[in-house]
Amino acid sequence: MSAPASPSPSDLGPSPHLPIAIAGVPVARIGEIAQFEGQRVQVRGWLYNRRSKGKLHFLQVRDGSGIIQAVMFKGDVSEEVFVQADHLSQETSLMVSGTVRKDERSAIGFELACDGLVVVKAADPEYPISPKDHGVAFLMDHRHLWLRSRRQAAIIRVRARIIKSIRDFFDNRGFVLMDTPIFTPNACEGTSTLFETEYHGQMAYLSQSGQLYNEANAMALGKVYAFGPTFRAEKSKTRRHLTEFWMVEPEAAYLDLDGVMELAEDLLCTIAAEVLRDCGAELDTIDSIRSEAEEQKQLLPRREALARVHGPFPRIDHADAVRQLQAMGSDITFADDLGADDETLLTQQYPTPIFVCRYPAEVKAFYMKRDPAEPQRSLSVDMLAPEGYGEIVGGGQREDDYDTLLAAIHKHGLPLESFDWYLDLRKYGSVPHGGFGLGVERTVAWVCGLPHVRETIPFARMMDRLRP
Ligand code: 4AD
Ligand code: MG
Repeated sequence: MSAPASPSPSDLGPSPHLPIAIAGVPVARIGEIAQFEGQRVQVRGWLYNRRSKGKLHFLQVRDGSGIIQAVMFKGDVSEEVFVQADHLSQETSLMVSGTVRKDERSAIGFELACDGLVVVKAADPEYPISPKDHGVAFLMDHRHLWLRSRRQAAIIRVRARIIKSIRDFFDNRGFVLMDTPIFTPNACEGTSTLFETEYHGQMAYLSQSGQLYNEANAMALGKVYAFGPTFRAEKSKTRRHLTEFWMVEPEAAYLDLDGVMELAEDLLCTIAAEVLRDCGAELDTIDSIRSEAEEQKQLLPRREALARVHGPFPRIDHADAVRQLQAMGSDITFADDLGADDETLLTQQYPTPIFVCRYPAEVKAFYMKRDPAEPQRSLSVDMLAPEGYGEIVGGGQREDDYDTLLAAIHKHGLPLESFDWYLDLRKYGSVPHGGFGLGVERTVAWVCGLPHVRETIPFARMMDRLRP
């Protein structure tokens, strides 16, 4: 990322509590190496790769903030160190010292003219992840090591930047962060994907969404957001379903369906602009390391994909979406939700994300407000990401009438005793209100152009994966 963080105290030099350092040589982080041009520094990290040519060893050293090539010339180090450098195994932890010099061919623009090497701990020579291609199942089994690779590190940095954009966006617009509980007695998004757990003699569920509590919070503080992990016992193994995923959920009093769309559009435009501004190098890294299957998808280079994200995003009525899809050969009807294939087909027709709104009430959750003009439809909206990515945001206006909400709770067979407090919100000062949830992992998958959400979170949880 372009904006360098200020160095932390432990980066400033050798510490008596960390005796592993080359005495008298300042420590530099690779991500900030430009600040040290012409200076002698040491880099503390791990060996990523190496090759040798005659009197030269080229050591690719990574320290988490980047990768730098340390060029070791036989004449610049002791005989012993030069021989040692020829036998280092991948992922050996080490420190190298040298002078930072400009290098046009380097991806980071600099290399290290190496004059010293200290091995911290030699790695077992059988490092499982070699530069050759591995299958995804193998890599996911070794996720704790896979995270060290260049592309995975870049994805995680983009994820972190997206999360920062989201937090800044809401903080800057007067939304108050009010996180919601993870243990809950309520089902928010239907009863079929609940993780159950025993809770001191009662049954509890892991939260599927913070929305219901968020609505209480919005009636207290006006504009709020929750940001945390949510859980769904998804029984489907698809490229966009995790059982544990992160969702940001804004909720505001006096926000209608149009307001919800405007807010979601602003958020997406902000995320796209900030990632483009700050993570260009990461996006290029991701683009440069693609599997054959990914390349066949012929996605746009990610900088280009993000540069296209400008409002207004098309707002497509569900009925119009159905007509368009039917014309393209889908067998969807006006009573149906959009299936994953429909979403793919539809989003391929537009360069920016799109909104599909006013879905049939029957296919949406119990809390959706019905359209007063057409009660069989709900004031709901999904945002679908381009290039076939599909739904990344779901939300809408909430039912604010006590009797209508009560009837919906009955109709969905939900236990009244878990929802009495939620109904109270319609009893005491009910106002029109709305909000949405944006799934972080699906957003990262689209921003980075990834084929599957499993690479968008450090340790993915899916139906068939609980380890590592
Ligand atoms: O559309 P969903 O189910 O909406 C809600 O949960 C609302 N209660 C949110 C709200 O209005 N406050 O989920 C919202 C988003 C989806 O659009 C998707 O991005 C993500 O959460 N999502 C998942 N991401 C990964 N794996 C899953 N199994 C997901 N389920 C939903
Ligand atoms: Mg949804």
